[in-house]
Amino acid sequence: MKLPEIATAEAVDDQPRRTLVATENLTKYFPVSEGWLGRPTKLLRAVDGVSLRVRRGETLGLVGESGCGKSTLGRCILRLIEPTSGRVVFDGRDLLPLSQRALRPVRRRMQIIFQDPYSSLNPRMTVRQIVGEAIDIHDLAPTRADAEAMVAELLKKVGLRPEHMNRYPHEFSGGQRQRIGIARALAVQPDFIVCDEPISALDVSIQAQIVNLLVDLQEQLGLSYLFISHDLKIVEHMSHRVAVMYLGKVVEVATADELYRGSMHPYTRALLSAVPVADPAKKRLRVLLEGDVPSPIDPPTGCAFHPRCPRAIKGRCDTEAPPLIDAAPGHRVACWSPHTQ
Ligand SMILES: Nc1ncnc2c1ncn2[C@@H]1O[C@H](COP(=O)(O)OP(=O)(O)O)[C@@H](O)[C@H]1O
Ligand SMILES: [Mg+2]
Repeated sequence: MKLPEIATAEAVDDQPRRTLVATENLTKYFPVSEGWLGRPTKLLRAVDGVSLRVRRGETLGLVGESGCGKSTLGRCILRLIEPTSGRVVFDGRDLLPLSQRALRPVRRRMQIIFQDPYSSLNPRMTVRQIVGEAIDIHDLAPTRADAEAMVAELLKKVGLRPEHMNRYPHEFSGGQRQRIGIARALAVQPDFIVCDEPISALDVSIQAQIVNLLVDLQEQLGLSYLFISHDLKIVEHMSHRVAVMYLGKVVEVATADELYRGSMHPYTRALLSAVPVADPAKKRLRVLLEGDVPSPIDPPTGCAFHPRCPRAIKGRCDTEAPPLIDAAPGHRVACWSPHTQ
């Protein structure tokens, strides 16, 4: 499966025309209480100053250990949860100042596919209702017959049959349910889809089918994806560019090629070294990630990764947070001591 070709040089990134979604210094802090029933006294920094771009027709992969803020970031972009501060720009429009009403036509163009195809589909609705609901809400079909024809067409597009329309979610396998979820997302003709671990709950044997379906749909429809996963192999296969998150912050962004072959951040290296490699000759030096992910409530001072970092410089990394800077064309890294080869 070949990814649709898009220009990936960072120079292109500066042309706003090609950028579909951009976040600027986006944050989401959750107030949390320390004891039972206590009043919220602390802030959990789930997303902490994230600036990213997704271009038209591009897949931006987003990786990082569980709890680093990937889902929160995806939901903030869609305003399914309200960010604390920062900006989200979609197709040149600032989304955060918009009222819910003003947001509606924009929201149609941004969809999400969830990890769990079991809990994200209403069990009491038929496939026709599930896929047709958004068509109705956004008034996309003049008549019932038109709406039904659209649902039939969408089902074919995702590899299901129009007859499936009268069935209920429980009558389908996990992979088929995820196809229904994809058809539902496509019903409103979106430009951008947040894919939040869309294959993590599926059997390995059908993961590739869903991944290939997403790539095909991107090619046919020119979709942009934010593809969230903790499976680095799949992300490499799916993504034009990849961003790595650690404790609410982006620590490295590069083209998939650069990131997988020339990562600079010690955290990215450690993540990659934990990926099983089939060919032993290509085995990467295994860097073990020591210790647990620190709490986003009281993150470490300086670079949040420094307590686990084999390259941490005393007096520097523990005191001053490294900014995300251009280290090479199209390659950004936030590290005081990056790998250079
Ligand atoms: N509604 C919430 N209230 C409080 N904390 C939350 C909430 N949602 C997520 N978090 C916390 O925010 C952090 C990031 O979570 P999440 O975005 O789900 O990470 P990921 O998707 O990378 O696993 C975690 O520490 C999580 O516990
Ligand atoms: Mg998540």
